[in-house]
Amino acid sequence: MATSKQLQFIADDAISLEVRKGLGATPKRLPAKLFYDEIGSALFEQITELPEYYLTRTERSILEGFAGEILQQAGPSLTLVELGAGTASKTCILIEELLHRQRRALFYPIDVSPSALDEAMRQLGRQFPSLRVNPIVGDYTGGVPALGRISGRKLVLYIGSSIGNFEPCEAIGILRRIRRTLRPDDALLLGADFAKSPKILLPAYDDSQGVTAAFNKNILARLNRELDADFDLDQFRHIALWNRRHSRMEIYLESMAAQSVFIPALDMDLSFEPEERIHTENSYKYTDEMIVSILRQSGFTLEQTWCDRKKWFGVHLARV
Ligand code: TRP
Repeated sequence: MATSKQLQFIADDAISLEVRKGLGATPKRLPAKLFYDEIGSALFEQITELPEYYLTRTERSILEGFAGEILQQAGPSLTLVELGAGTASKTCILIEELLHRQRRALFYPIDVSPSALDEAMRQLGRQFPSLRVNPIVGDYTGGVPALGRISGRKLVLYIGSSIGNFEPCEAIGILRRIRRTLRPDDALLLGADFAKSPKILLPAYDDSQGVTAAFNKNILARLNRELDADFDLDQFRHIALWNRRHSRMEIYLESMAAQSVFIPALDMDLSFEPEERIHTENSYKYTDEMIVSILRQSGFTLEQTWCDRKKWFGVHLARV
């Protein structure tokens, strides 16, 4: 039983409106931002270490292998900015290389999570005494006007393939708003997962230990905890599908029987048919052409791409 304080947590929030709208729609959906409460964030950390989830590991290896080349290409005297920095764990690779090239550096990590930024501050402060960290708490998707006021040459990092979790038209909007705050010498470093065989993709989103399933189901667990809903987690299964036409992984929770669910905090009665799905996430997988296209449509030109030997993941440098 959730306390009234917990109930307020989602119920008063704009998220509750999205939950109401999404579960009231046909087909049903839930907003992906619900994944990342404390439990969900810990499960996602676990996902990034799974043998099947090649993304994090592959991107890290690209940054390790090419940090020098990437910074060389970006230009001298850089200030780093990171969109959705989280705890900036992969960014250390670039920062370390940067501090070999210049005595001091400035880093602006941007994230919606103040606790993640605190963690980043602590870690980076210890590891790099000559780095000045100016965290910005906020949502970068609507643009970050403050970036326009940073003097000197910027390299804006948008790594981790979060871009893939937006519809391509939304991705273009985000990149466009960032572009407005950049000058001709500045650069964008974009991480994106490449389209590849579903033999590789499917296990990455449906691992053998069931961590991804638990991560996906945590959304329902959260509605139970915070909105006092009565979802029976054993009556839903995690589904990951490859949609070739849209070049994306689609993630669902599928009802295993006809059932009804009540969400007291939203005063909402739901019914599910057997095999009815709730859509929880898309993860777009980009081809070279798609990368060139979203960059061009947002006013960037692609300058260089670095990838691993199997071409599973790409890190792209673009300029306005
Ligand atoms: N950004 C991650 C990705 O698209 C998020 C993610 C990983 C995810 N596994 C998931 C989202 C499973 C939903 C379900 O790769």
